[in-house]
Amino acid sequence: MAFELPALPYAANALEPYISANTLNFHHGKHHAAYVANLNKLIEGGPLASKALVDIIGKAAGDADKVGIFNNAAQTWNHTFFWNSLSPKSGAPSAALAERIDAAFGSLAAFKEQFKQAAVSQFGSGWAWLIEDNGKLAIMKTGNADLPLAHGKKALFTVDVWEHAYYLDYQNRRPDFVQTVLDRLVNWDFIAANLKA
Ligand code: FE2
Repeated sequence: MAFELPALPYAANALEPYISANTLNFHHGKHHAAYVANLNKLIEGGPLASKALVDIIGKAAGDADKVGIFNNAAQTWNHTFFWNSLSPKSGAPSAALAERIDAAFGSLAAFKEQFKQAAVSQFGSGWAWLIEDNGKLAIMKTGNADLPLAHGKKALFTVDVWEHAYYLDYQNRRPDFVQTVLDRLVNWDFIAANLKA
């Protein structure tokens, strides 16, 4: 069965003024949609057509003959994960999550600083991640479509740092985009739920 573009978990204007409806309409309606459509074309009629998305990613990762499938499957997954990583009702981490963050990074401010550093230093297109690695929270960055799953790591939260994620609102100011997401839009409940999963 073909994959479908999942609806955004909030209205396209819900993240304004930090991320515009214009950005979300292009990012979700054009970029994410294109990854889903390309993935469906690439797997149609083949042995991967009936597989779950994470299984397709796992099978295609590191396979030189399946680079296109990997890229489009990973980007399909990454974007859905990114939409869920954001929330118009960000709030603050629960006490339990704050404790995990303090244990790993020293403080919430230090977490944000280290995450921002990873996001800003990712050369070219890619993603910054909060992951759980051997029971500890950690930060990771990946290039292009790459993702923690392909490295045996568990993703908890991500920020898309491809230019299409911020250019309409922030032009070349990736640090401002990342800082705004960290200060205003983090879905802390999603992180906590992923930790328990
Ligand atoms: Fe994107």
